[in-house]
Amino acid sequence: MTKKKILITGGAGFIGSHVIRLFVKKYSDYEIYNLDNLTYAGNLKNISDIENASNYHFLKIDLVDAIALNAIFDEHKFDSVIHLAAESHVDRSITNPLDFVMTNVVGTVNLLNAAKNCWKGNFENKLFYHVSTDEVYGSLHDGGFFLETTPYDPQSPYSASKASSDHFVRAYHNTYKIPIVISNCSNNYGPNQFPEKLIPLFINNIRNNKPLPVYGKGENVRDWLYVIDHARAIDDVFHKGKIGETYNIGGFNEWKNIDLIKVICKVMDKKLGREMGESEKLISYVIDRAGHDLRYAIDANKIMNELGWQPSLQFEEGIEKTIDWYLNNQDWMDEVTSGNYQKYYEKMYSNNAE
Ligand code: NAD
Ligand code: DAU
Repeated sequence: MTKKKILITGGAGFIGSHVIRLFVKKYSDYEIYNLDNLTYAGNLKNISDIENASNYHFLKIDLVDAIALNAIFDEHKFDSVIHLAAESHVDRSITNPLDFVMTNVVGTVNLLNAAKNCWKGNFENKLFYHVSTDEVYGSLHDGGFFLETTPYDPQSPYSASKASSDHFVRAYHNTYKIPIVISNCSNNYGPNQFPEKLIPLFINNIRNNKPLPVYGKGENVRDWLYVIDHARAIDDVFHKGKIGETYNIGGFNEWKNIDLIKVICKVMDKKLGREMGESEKLISYVIDRAGHDLRYAIDANKIMNELGWQPSLQFEEGIEKTIDWYLNNQDWMDEVTSGNYQKYYEKMYSNNAE
């Protein structure tokens, strides 16, 4: 019997690396192809433990290169796609929106076209799974949760590009009958996240006694999910999700930024043997992110009730595990924060004290 061939994009990034590991280890009867262009956010060290597995293959390809995408579909005849590759950082989207249009919109349409050209209307056992974000729904102000039926209202160039890619995926289902499924997840945290995002950036700064740049008053709210629980949800949606459907993924775990930051400071004081309260002194309020969404909160009842998914970790346990991982993997942090990271950091955080 020929093995099922699954193309996973963005597998050298934060969430993609956890998804690749889960699929390579759990499904020895699948051939897993990791397509990644290794941008600043892609790092093959994130998956070095499985790189020699016999069911794992790496393809260094840019999603913007339509010819290369068609060629690999011609060669490998993938059965399914799990599409995670994207430009993913909101602050970078404010500085360089076109990068987000190219990868997130053009790249997704290129991938849809390559699948469509390869599958040629024969969709038996085929699936295009698009991994998206809760940010497409906009910003919540007065309570309530994002449901799968909440109208799209993206507010940043990043979320506008992800919303656009979601619309294209649904349009290809409606127009060409490509079997699709979409999931929209809340903020992830855990090992291997690039330290431009709040949690790894703050852990690294605390360790190095650097200021903690809190945007605005620190009152924005995010709904945090441990990355491995997101990977487990992706496994469930891929195998059990209904074609054409959308599933929201989240942990019912809302935190005001400043409260979350204080928890990180306390755990770091304990782990580093510092006096309680020492890390909190590094908090520095800076100019707010332009157009900063106030609150995200996911209603995850559909995936819980219909697919039986549940988050496995409580936040207190997840954040301890996360902090331990960064402290025990200082080489990883040193490597990703060398070179261009310094330039990014300087440009992003110099001269913006409130
Ligand atoms: P990430 O930035 O850590 O990784 C993105 C990966 O995509 C990298 O390996 C990068 O090299 C690759 N990539 C970027 N542009 C590419 C291109 N043009 N061609 C090929 N590869 C390219 O991102 P992440 O945080 O792991 O997010 C993964 C996906 O999940 C994204 O689609 C994101 O929108 C979505 N998402 C993220 C979160 C979160 O909290 N991080 C939450 C919900 C949804
Ligand atoms: O909700 C899902 C989204 O979560 C994903 O789609 C995105 O890819 C991911 O980056 C994340 O977006 P956020 O903008 O919410 O994540 P970030 O870690 O950048 O910021 C979290 C909160 O912390 C946000 O309110 C901004 C604030 N923040 C962030 C940074 C980097 C600060 O106060 N200071 C900072 O230096």
